[in-house]
Amino acid sequence: MSITVNQSTRAIEPGERLIDAINRSGIDLPQVCYHPQLGPIQTCDTCMVEVDGKLVRACGTLAEDGMNVATSSARADAAQREAFDRILGNHLLYCTVCDNSNGNCTVHNTTKLLHVEHQEIPYKSKPYEVDMSNPFYRYDPDQCILCGRCVEACQNLQVNETLSIDWENAHPRVLWDGGAPIGESSCVSCGHCVTVCPCNALMEKSMLGEAGYFTGLPEPALNGMIDVVKGIEPELGYGAILQLSEVEAAMRESHIKRTKTVCTYCGVGCSFDIWTKDRHILKVEPAHGPANGVSTCIKGKFGWDYVNSPDRLTKPLIREGDSFREACWDEALTLVARRFAEIKAATGPDSLAFISSSKCTNEESYLMQKLARAVIGTNNMDNCSRYCQAPATTGLFRTVGYGGDSGSISDIEQAGLVLIIGSNTAESHPVLATRVKRSHKLRGQKLIVSDLRENEMARRADVFLHPRPGTDLFWLSAVTRYILDNGLANQAFIDKWVNGAEEYKQSLEPFTLELASQRCGLPIETLTKVAHMIVEADSVCVLWAMGVTQHTMGSDTSTAISNLLLATGNYMRPGTGAYPLRGHNNVQGASDHGAMPNYFPGYQKVDDPVIRAKFEKAWNVTLPPKPGLDNHLMIDAIHDGHLKSMYVFGEEMSLVDSNANYVADALSKLDFFVMQEIFFTETCRYADVILPGSPSLEKEGTFTSTERRIQRLYQAFEPLGESRPDWEIIQDIANRLGAGWKYEHPSEIYREIAPLTPLMAGVTYERLEGYKTLQWPVAEDGSDQPLLYTKQFKFPDGKANFYPLTWSEPTDQQDSEYDLHLNNGRLLEHFHEGNMTYRTEGIREKTPCTFVEVSPELAADRGIETGSWVQLTSRYGKMRAQAVITTRVTGRELYMPMNSVEEPVNRLTSSYTDKVTHTPAYKETSVQLKVLGEAGENPLPRTNSRFGHPTPQNGVEVERKWKRKDYREPGVQLVQIQTR
Ligand code: SF4
Ligand code: SF4
Ligand code: SF4
Ligand code: FES
Repeated sequence: MSITVNQSTRAIEPGERLIDAINRSGIDLPQVCYHPQLGPIQTCDTCMVEVDGKLVRACGTLAEDGMNVATSSARADAAQREAFDRILGNHLLYCTVCDNSNGNCTVHNTTKLLHVEHQEIPYKSKPYEVDMSNPFYRYDPDQCILCGRCVEACQNLQVNETLSIDWENAHPRVLWDGGAPIGESSCVSCGHCVTVCPCNALMEKSMLGEAGYFTGLPEPALNGMIDVVKGIEPELGYGAILQLSEVEAAMRESHIKRTKTVCTYCGVGCSFDIWTKDRHILKVEPAHGPANGVSTCIKGKFGWDYVNSPDRLTKPLIREGDSFREACWDEALTLVARRFAEIKAATGPDSLAFISSSKCTNEESYLMQKLARAVIGTNNMDNCSRYCQAPATTGLFRTVGYGGDSGSISDIEQAGLVLIIGSNTAESHPVLATRVKRSHKLRGQKLIVSDLRENEMARRADVFLHPRPGTDLFWLSAVTRYILDNGLANQAFIDKWVNGAEEYKQSLEPFTLELASQRCGLPIETLTKVAHMIVEADSVCVLWAMGVTQHTMGSDTSTAISNLLLATGNYMRPGTGAYPLRGHNNVQGASDHGAMPNYFPGYQKVDDPVIRAKFEKAWNVTLPPKPGLDNHLMIDAIHDGHLKSMYVFGEEMSLVDSNANYVADALSKLDFFVMQEIFFTETCRYADVILPGSPSLEKEGTFTSTERRIQRLYQAFEPLGESRPDWEIIQDIANRLGAGWKYEHPSEIYREIAPLTPLMAGVTYERLEGYKTLQWPVAEDGSDQPLLYTKQFKFPDGKANFYPLTWSEPTDQQDSEYDLHLNNGRLLEHFHEGNMTYRTEGIREKTPCTFVEVSPELAADRGIETGSWVQLTSRYGKMRAQAVITTRVTGRELYMPMNSVEEPVNRLTSSYTDKVTHTPAYKETSVQLKVLGEAGENPLPRTNSRFGHPTPQNGVEVERKWKRKDYREPGVQLVQIQTR
């Protein structure tokens, strides 16, 4: 198919927007409100073109075979100018003193493109104040051109539904919750609106007064400059003003650095450019992220202050009695190497253990496990996937073969039905959640949520299941049995692709709907409805997280999910599959790269002699043949006296492991404990030597996200003080123990990993340059697999396996003494215990502390008010927190976010674990509650987004603008506008 544009023939793609076809052909067409990731908004009218003699908006028109398009005919040109003139009536062009004038301002660039010298419609100020009430960004109504990009992004991409424009008002503006101050609205500070704003109306506060050479002037002087700029416009025209500002913008290039990086918080894997000036972070600019496009959440967009925090460790510290003294690197590293060597000589290599960081890079995890195995000689090596994701990996290993998400976020987006189990996705994986919310809102995707709390996804769901704690396996198996028993399964798929159907069917015998209903507390009708929705959907993705895995049945429930997907044929196609959502930014990569007790990199078994021989040859050492201790067993081994020394980096073990008192007690018993960290964390208190490592912005390397996507991060800053990239520190320790490593850059480490690791065979830094990514497995020729199972499953016969399961009751159950169930998890604004996020002032302002959610029923029963101090006591410890009364929880179920260093929820959790993986059963905790005196303030301040009142609508609703009496389509009357 083709069209003619300005008399040249251009090929078009089916369903392509006309504006995209024109842009592809390289023709300059004004387009202020259009953003490819938002789709046509049609508010600005600057993209008017003539199609077969008729004026149309190029963004709102689909290209059709044979169209004759003129982008610069007299009528099109006049319409574009008229439309843009109206925009300038809403916007002061003071580019030279504007922090947004960095070569990428759409308003500036369109003024230039159209050679506008003077405007016909004079600028008119709007009768509203600038809104500075959000800690991270401001809205200046006087600069707002009412393009509505922000509204579209908030309503239909982020789907927080905070923004709208009051088109019927005499002076329309952008509204938060229909007219609240930003800081008191439902805005979750994700930054979508700021990112897509085409001018300076919405701007990051960190940019203000910082980006330009003249923009940091005191306000009166700045206003004076703006007046000067406006004063010379009638005489000189905009051409001269723009030229001046472009010279200044070009000068900014020398002090503004843009570095591509990958978010260091959750496993979604958002990537973006970070703009810096010296050590000042100007802004985070997402644009081309393969996982996120222009999307971010509050943490990735605004949560970076920790990098320059005065609390950063900048020198090695050595314990002296009860305190620490600063030391030089040589002294600290020599001490570490000497003590490791002494302990190894005295009590053997297995008396040492190593924990790698899921916050750090793949290369660093690889070196850590190489240090443990090749230099010390132990497989006592683990990472924090043990705390969350190991059961999901096991469930997938058992049934389909690979322990990773079976597709990409784009598959989740296109699924006909999404089933979310035990995941507070909107808060824990916010950008991934936006894709589900968007498909649900705009495309009719069905959504089923099973959770103990009515979280945001549950509120949006078509069906919300609230099973009794720890019973997901039961209802999942009952639904699968119902599907199989009633001939609703995908028998053709099972026959062709799945082994073990008969044995599996027999194992489902006890899982009747009646029993499931009794045990899980769910109506039979709801369960049958879920079954029918699943089989009727054209494709199903199941998302799950710690609400499933952190149980004694974590591996089995993950397996039950995969069994259900197999029974319904929901693998091997786009829009289907299993998606355990990885928590940390690089928890997937840490395991992939061998930071595990039983696997070399790429899940190659340490007890396989052929594999071991391969690594022995490559590393030129003899390697230990038996799997080592995982981090749960390490703690027991310290208590037993077998484990004497540990080296932990980037892991707040004493707070995030369950039964924190037991863990802390163990750490205090170590003979020699090395911590490598960026802050003096709680776990550091137990250390003998503390080595200052570097956060992601100060080093290079790769991270692997939840969708198995490997991405490069580049260095934005030099390491602070004497801190150093973690891979360099690990290498120095290895070399002091005689290793003789000579890596000069992380790329050299990857050059060693790839040939040893079939899963990553084709991974090279060149193939990952810039925003390029690979989703493992990566073949030697560099081809990767965004969808994991296309031709076969990862078993020798290419088939998947049904895996029979039995039921067992959760541990740490309630009784008359411990009568309440305590659930715990993340909060949108904070990551985990908050060591990083509490160091961003705006985040602290919105969520200053943890709290415990109490149901209205329980509150009434016990006389608890929001703000009441309560003491929670479990069988393992106690802690205090303030209560928040909310309908998110019901009855005798409590919820506590884990963002506290002072009162960590893990003082209450037990040492019970998943039977297979030893993942702690964090979610199986019973407590008693005691009210401590009078209620204080609400621990959630009024500025928290929970108090807002969203105003859902479908995008910007441009039709309302078109209905205004003063609106007429541009170009209907030819308007004379003076041009150069
Ligand atoms: S939630 Fe807030 S920051 Fe995010 S797009 Fe909406 S208004 Fe903007
Ligand atoms: S604030 Fe919103 S409507 Fe105003 S210019 Fe920016 S994106 Fe457009
Ligand atoms: S925390 Fe997760 S969702 Fe938020 S920006 Fe970072 S990677 Fe994206
Ligand atoms: S770009 Fe088409 S109407 Fe704005």
